[in-house]
Amino acid sequence: MCGIVGYVGKQSASPVLLEGLKRLEYRGYDSAGLALWEKGGFEVYKKTGRVEVVGQLVTKAKPASNMGISHTRWATHGGVTDANAHPHVSFDGKLALVHNGVIENFATLKRELSSKGIEFKSETDTEVLVNLIAYLYKSAIDEGSERDSATLLTAMRAALAQVEGTYGIGLICTDLPDQLFGARKGSPLVIGIGRKENFLASDIAAFAGRTQDVVYMHDNEVVHLRADDFTVTTIQDAAVAPVISHIDWEVENSELGSFKHYMLKEIFEQPTALENAMRGRFSQDGSTAQFGGLNLDARELRQVDRILFLGCGTAWHACLVAEYLIEKYARIPVEVEYASEFRYRNAPMFRNTLVFVVSQSGETIDTLEAQREAKRKGFRVLGITNVVSSTIARENDGGIYQHSGPEIGVASTKAFISQIHIAGMLALYLGRMRDMSFSEGGEIVKALKTVPGMVAQILTMADQIEAIARKYKDYEDFLFLGRQLMFPIALEGALKLKEISYIHAEGYPAAEMKHGPIALISPKCPTLAFAHKGEIFKKSLSNIQEIKARKGPVIAITNAGKEFPDGLADDVIHIPECHDIAMATLSVIPVQLLSYYIAVLRGCDVDKPRNLAKSVTVE
Ligand code: G6P
Repeated sequence: MCGIVGYVGKQSASPVLLEGLKRLEYRGYDSAGLALWEKGGFEVYKKTGRVEVVGQLVTKAKPASNMGISHTRWATHGGVTDANAHPHVSFDGKLALVHNGVIENFATLKRELSSKGIEFKSETDTEVLVNLIAYLYKSAIDEGSERDSATLLTAMRAALAQVEGTYGIGLICTDLPDQLFGARKGSPLVIGIGRKENFLASDIAAFAGRTQDVVYMHDNEVVHLRADDFTVTTIQDAAVAPVISHIDWEVENSELGSFKHYMLKEIFEQPTALENAMRGRFSQDGSTAQFGGLNLDARELRQVDRILFLGCGTAWHACLVAEYLIEKYARIPVEVEYASEFRYRNAPMFRNTLVFVVSQSGETIDTLEAQREAKRKGFRVLGITNVVSSTIARENDGGIYQHSGPEIGVASTKAFISQIHIAGMLALYLGRMRDMSFSEGGEIVKALKTVPGMVAQILTMADQIEAIARKYKDYEDFLFLGRQLMFPIALEGALKLKEISYIHAEGYPAAEMKHGPIALISPKCPTLAFAHKGEIFKKSLSNIQEIKARKGPVIAITNAGKEFPDGLADDVIHIPECHDIAMATLSVIPVQLLSYYIAVLRGCDVDKPRNLAKSVTVE
């Protein structure tokens, strides 16, 4: 995590950097800072808290500089303090550096530098890197090298060669006016090419609306930017021919509009997100789905006899929904693993296994590394990602873009719903290649198409759900129970609630409750229980009875209408009846709204929950 933005050009740098940082706050918001190149030195502004706080410092000072680097931090090494905030300036005041990633051997490097008399002002791994580069640069100058970009690049390369870990960095030097340097390994870094100005950032969102031409840097690459030019080389100093991509911005989608929070806006955008996920993805004859980007033909897909889904957090819950739907409709055995576990587990895998990674951002390091490991083992890896041209999307063998639009709220909502809708479409597509009949395929296509309308209908219940939130906002523990397809939704409900309201919440398969969690049931611990029509309806009702018998308050979410017994639950949220393929999609909306309203009523910062970041680029 952490977001970095650099600018070199003709404009005043600070407003460009501050705007970019605001757009990258989803990557962390423990502290923020800027270093602006000024004749003979740097102006550094840094402070714990949000970008807004450092913005006030900068606005007061009105710096005129046309070049600088900036950072929004998610703390790894060293507490959340002003001293640990980036940028970090080298011991001799010559270099300022911003960094996203982790220098794993920082302790050894720090010892070596300390033994040479270098003093440190912070507890960060980043300060070690800036001092190492500065030390090598200074040594080269002392030995007669010029104070020029070639000497600095040589020092950078030599320092980075000693570093174990990950980095995306931005660097400026007092000797080199109007020159900005960057390097990447493991953490994303992208160059924005403007007219007589250039940008460097962790994500293209940082310069949205300023340029449409971008270069995605690869691992082990170094960039040297001037206002009217840039050069990319490798860490070993080999030339790289940069590939320029032209991107279409949808800046208006990133604005909050009349909504109080991005999370609420994104919940309300879900019907559109679903329409976008489906657009152009059904066959002419209306019996199946189609995906343009899988890069696998029908014959290859028929040979797949196992699927492995990998993801983290909410995306992992989407993988669990995919498991249920694909096993049910396509009859292909599916396994789901946390990407972070898979990477180090060296799990035995069947030969004809197809791997899917699911990631909204396409940058989560655990998921990216799991993808790399599966590819190293020779497996085909496809992705379900939202962010176009993200690292995961660029490195896999194909996949499905979600087209959900930018998701800014740290707690995922519309990206999750489109992932599980795509999972349903995938189950249909794979099912039709096996035993699913033409008419069943047709029914499922029709069912999937009705979902956006049904979602819109559930969204009209927001006031009712807000009223329920008022009743439950002061509890400190919650259970979420669901069976089968509702189990991942119970997990997702619990995650949403704890992420944004800091209430302790656990999701369980309802029948498992009696094997442990039932000990938690009391008037102080409410349960949210899913009880939908179908073969386990009666069992779900029994589970609710068991909770009520122990005086536990219950909120039920059901599609059973009048069949749901009066008075059984304390509060009931009725959702429309629908095909099983869409049940997860509809059921998650009430829990998103409930978590949202509870968090707002508790005064929590819904869009930026404490300690979290949206794109987790450190392990
Ligand atoms: C972080 C976020 C979660 C998200 C997870 C995976 O932990 O806080 O909300 O679900 O990363 O993110 P991805 O971008 O890979 O879907």
